[in-house]
Amino acid sequence: MTVSSPRPNTTHQEVAHPPRSGAAIRQTFLDFYAARGHKVLPSASLVPEDPTVLLTIAGMLPFKQAFLSLQPRPAARATSAQKCIRTNDIENVGRTARHHTYFEMLGNFSFGDYFKEQAILWAWELSTEGFGLRPEQLVVSVFHDDEASAAIWRDRVGVTPRRIVRLGEADNFWSAGPTGPCGPCSELYFDFHPERGDDTIDLEDDSRFIEFYNLVFMESNRNGDGVLTPLSHRNIDTGMGLERMAQILQQKPNNYETDLIYPLITAAASRAGLDYTKASDSQQTSLKVISDHARAVTQLVGDGVTASNLGRGYVLRRLIRRILRHGRRIGIHEAFLKPLAESAIALMEGAYPQLRQRQAAIVDELMQEEARFLHTLERGEKLLIDILATRPKTISGQQAFELYDTYGFPLELTAEIAGEQGLAVDEAGFEQAMAEQRQRAKTAATSLDVTSRDAAGSLAAELGTTVFTGYQQLVNEDVEVKALIVDGQAVSSARAGDQVQVGFACTCFYGESGGQVGDQGVFEVISGGEDTTTASDDELTRVQVRDVQKLNGFVLHIGEVEHGTLALGDHLRIQVDRHRRRCAQVHHTATHLLQAALKQVVGSGVTQAGSLVDVDRLRFDFHCDHALDGTALEEVEALVNRWILEAHPLTVSEMPVNEAMAQGAIAMFGEKYGEVVRVVNVPEVSMELCGGTHVDNTAEIGVFHLVAESGVAAGIRRIEAVAGPAVSPYLKLRDTVCRELGERFKAQTADILPRVNAVQQELKRSTKALADTKAELAVEKAKAFVQRSQDVGRFKVIREELSGIDSTQLQTVARNLCSTVGISSAVVLAGQEPSGKTSLVASFGADVVEHGLQAGPFVSGIATTYGGGGGGRPQHARAGGFKAEDLGNVLQAAEEELRKTLQTRSEAKGSKRKDRGQVRRAAKGRAAKKAVDERLRQATRNADENELKETLR
Ligand code: SER
Repeated sequence: MTVSSPRPNTTHQEVAHPPRSGAAIRQTFLDFYAARGHKVLPSASLVPEDPTVLLTIAGMLPFKQAFLSLQPRPAARATSAQKCIRTNDIENVGRTARHHTYFEMLGNFSFGDYFKEQAILWAWELSTEGFGLRPEQLVVSVFHDDEASAAIWRDRVGVTPRRIVRLGEADNFWSAGPTGPCGPCSELYFDFHPERGDDTIDLEDDSRFIEFYNLVFMESNRNGDGVLTPLSHRNIDTGMGLERMAQILQQKPNNYETDLIYPLITAAASRAGLDYTKASDSQQTSLKVISDHARAVTQLVGDGVTASNLGRGYVLRRLIRRILRHGRRIGIHEAFLKPLAESAIALMEGAYPQLRQRQAAIVDELMQEEARFLHTLERGEKLLIDILATRPKTISGQQAFELYDTYGFPLELTAEIAGEQGLAVDEAGFEQAMAEQRQRAKTAATSLDVTSRDAAGSLAAELGTTVFTGYQQLVNEDVEVKALIVDGQAVSSARAGDQVQVGFACTCFYGESGGQVGDQGVFEVISGGEDTTTASDDELTRVQVRDVQKLNGFVLHIGEVEHGTLALGDHLRIQVDRHRRRCAQVHHTATHLLQAALKQVVGSGVTQAGSLVDVDRLRFDFHCDHALDGTALEEVEALVNRWILEAHPLTVSEMPVNEAMAQGAIAMFGEKYGEVVRVVNVPEVSMELCGGTHVDNTAEIGVFHLVAESGVAAGIRRIEAVAGPAVSPYLKLRDTVCRELGERFKAQTADILPRVNAVQQELKRSTKALADTKAELAVEKAKAFVQRSQDVGRFKVIREELSGIDSTQLQTVARNLCSTVGISSAVVLAGQEPSGKTSLVASFGADVVEHGLQAGPFVSGIATTYGGGGGGRPQHARAGGFKAEDLGNVLQAAEEELRKTLQTRSEAKGSKRKDRGQVRRAAKGRAAKKAVDERLRQATRNADENELKETLR
């Protein structure tokens, strides 16, 4: 074993040319350890081989099994530069100097070879001689009871005792997760202010210290109960943050401004029309987030990760969404992931040449995901602006929830845009709506309202399971009313007009379950109960049943008393609507055939994910990772129709669940079945566990027609179809449409499509020609606008009326004018659309926004004065809804407001800057850092909340 001689810090020589660039630092590290007998290993993939870990989070991860002696060690000594992803600190990215999701870890590893003393001596030698750090710029930490390490630093290296800090388990005991190899560690810190002396050393003060090298003395294994057992051999695992060393050697205020990341900041800034050095704090944060995540997503996709809602795919999706959100914050509204990824590849390909080889696939995946999310955001934004145009006092929880639930529009974004208009979002209401939706999802199986459910719940408990007689018969001649609910209350009688829920001991009505809808039908009173005086007046009592729901086996018939009165104890004749039931049965058996056909055509791996068996249609969701092409769909349809034509008789039997399974019956995964199950068998074709009602023979289905195939969620496809009597109305509707189209286009059915194509082409050409003309006109006018711009202080104000184009075009003209004039422009245009709609649009350059003037509140404030409303982003916004005759006044008001504000802001600028500087410095205190950490910890604990935040950031 080589242990170099002690190097007291007094003998330090200045290193002539310490490495500076990220690439040179990486090479210096690897060369240093290669020269000391370490095998240089390439970075492993970000997707670890270890299936228990989501992503490669440290340089040691690829060697986890080797440390545990579960795999052969790659060498006795190894060194690597490993790409890593950590997302536990994602909220701090861009806000602190050195948090990242993607980073590179330089490491030297010993697998049962050298240990503590050698690791410490080399770490010191590399830091001081390899990287040229002066000993007085270094402080080290040791695990509080690791006397041996403290002694090595003090006696062998020569570090003054006061610069050896003892830290507890939270800081100086490292493990890759709750279980696995671990050990005490010792860290090297760089001191930016050694002149402050040794009395005030506080390693948590990150304005003074930065930890750059962690030496883990990996000697134990921790099991699931937290118990440590010694490993068969002692190892060394170290990690030096490449970006951190670059910050130190390049003397930058943070990691982002090093050559490893800064080119991406510049690329994003130029796209946003910003100068990073002059950008506001929040703009700088966004640029940092974008640049950090750009490296992460490029590498993730390069390693084969694709966006999804699960695991690594979700990490990728979340990072992409954050890039786009921060892009929009700084004014990048168009797609920009392609150029960003290209810049990231150019930046990293030196160390990772495979990125260039996979460029096409990387760009493709990122652009697809980007398009999906931008579409969501645009839809949500439009809707929100419509809501704002109604000039509400707040955004209700329900509205925010609908934006989130239906359009995927993040709550934070709603709050942000509403906030720009001085409006609050009812976040408690949002949470409530969210909770209600969860509850709805749970009770989706029933249409009973909450109070009825309470009443029904007690009755169900009292009366127990209702016997179902409806497999054989659709009429019960005499059943007694056992339960009656009106307005959520158990009652003894009900009158004509009352909405009722009725329960019996047995019923032929099918209660919604297994995807099959509940029956409809009628009740007639045949004789009054003993304790009612009203029934005798009403021989004609009739109840229309429109739905039937089950509550733990208790069946409730939901409907309305049409004539007469209904009372507990009444005896009724109850009759199911035969036609509806028959149609549902046809669809139910057809669903079984469909599942069997899918298994044959697509593969036996197709399993049911859900189904709806209705009267006029069926819907079948199944697990499958690809769309079915036309040929497969035709095959499925043909197969089902063949089985129908073959007229297979169905057999239904009850048997123990084990026996049913042994015979190959299909059960729905995750569904709970009783001991004895009902098996619906179409011999040779399909055998399923099922409680639903079916036809006796497949021939009764008549015909099966596929309507649509689509994706409903990741890995889940949906088929919609009609069968039996439902086919005819479906086809009739199509026939009518075809006939009308034929008449309008003066074409035979077969010629309709070519005619429509021709008309569409023509329309496209005309629309384009019209748009070109309008654009040319607008450009001409806009040129004149630039010439007529007025100077207000150092700002250029353009205020013009431009009618006759629609509001989207008006916004485009405003944006173009704004980018033509540059960051000091304030453009307001007003106009009336050909449809009569009025618009006021504003586009402000970055400098104007920087001075506190936001386009959203600006336009909405003015439009509101004239009876309109609207809003938008800080740089671009639109309002409308005021009268056409007010156009001139609106513009006049806008101009006055601009003049007033821009002049005042120019004057106030100096003092504001200073205030912000003070606030910033204050916020950088340790208290603030601790608060952030605590919030983070809480967020991690609360998975739900985290989930929400993830989409929002
Ligand atoms: N595994 C340790 C860390 O990640 C040292 O490399 O800090």
